[in-house]
Amino acid sequence: MDNNPQNQDGVQQESIVGQIPDDPLTGHSYDGIQEFDNPLPGWWKWMFIGSIFFAFPYAAFYHGGAEGRTVVERYDKAMAENLRLQFAEIGELKLDRETVVKFLYKPAWLRVGQSVFKTHCVSCHGSDGGGLVGPNLTDESYKNVKDIGDILTVLQNGAGGGAMPAWKTRLSPNELVLAASYVASLRGVESANGKTAEGRVIAPWPEPPAESEDAGSESEDASSETKDDSVASEPDKAST
Ligand code: HEC
Repeated sequence: MDNNPQNQDGVQQESIVGQIPDDPLTGHSYDGIQEFDNPLPGWWKWMFIGSIFFAFPYAAFYHGGAEGRTVVERYDKAMAENLRLQFAEIGELKLDRETVVKFLYKPAWLRVGQSVFKTHCVSCHGSDGGGLVGPNLTDESYKNVKDIGDILTVLQNGAGGGAMPAWKTRLSPNELVLAASYVASLRGVESANGKTAEGRVIAPWPEPPAESEDAGSESEDASSETKDDSVASEPDKAST
């Protein structure tokens, strides 16, 4: 405000300046509090200058338009790589109703479906499937689905005149099947703030297929079966 240091509090100022001769006053005075013209510390100035020079190569590297350099792109790549590893285990899945039903009862694979859902579907269907632009996928009512196989069809070809996009060219068959199974698994899950039901209530999903080679998870029980002759493990195939 006041540019002349001698103007207002001349006496006080004089004594301070006298004590610290290297640091001149700026002449700024706020309610009698005066401002020294201290230089910024050297470390601070060099960090500031350094960061300016750091910015150029950084911007050129990450924002120069080269492929696969941003954190997001590298994350996507790592995810895709991980998915490919996992898919090597099951091979290429058939795009049919039976496969969707089969994976509906395989929780480990539903997690892969969930990651597809989190990446591509939550923007319209909500993070828990409760519905945003798209309908609620957690209730008992469906607009375009009468049977579990229809989920796959809707996913492949879209619905609502394109309001629900077609995914068959954008996702691999495995991703389509596992995402369909995951969507099916959302049915009956409580959604925090789900949209009101749309469409019609449909019949429950089919039971898990009776599968002989599903013994993989029960192989540990097989050894105990020989030890004790309890046949209790036979009827309880209660998988959630
Ligand atoms: C751009 C927004 C959008 C995205 C992204 C989107 N959906 Fe949809 N989805 C919709 C809309 C809108 C509908 C309702 C179409 C209609 O009115 O018939 C819908 C319908 C559906 C239905 C049928 C529901 C019913 O009640 O008939 C399923 C299943 C579905 N979406 C699954 C998915 C999956 C899985 C993904 C991710 C791969 C996905 N959606 C991504 C908007 C979207």
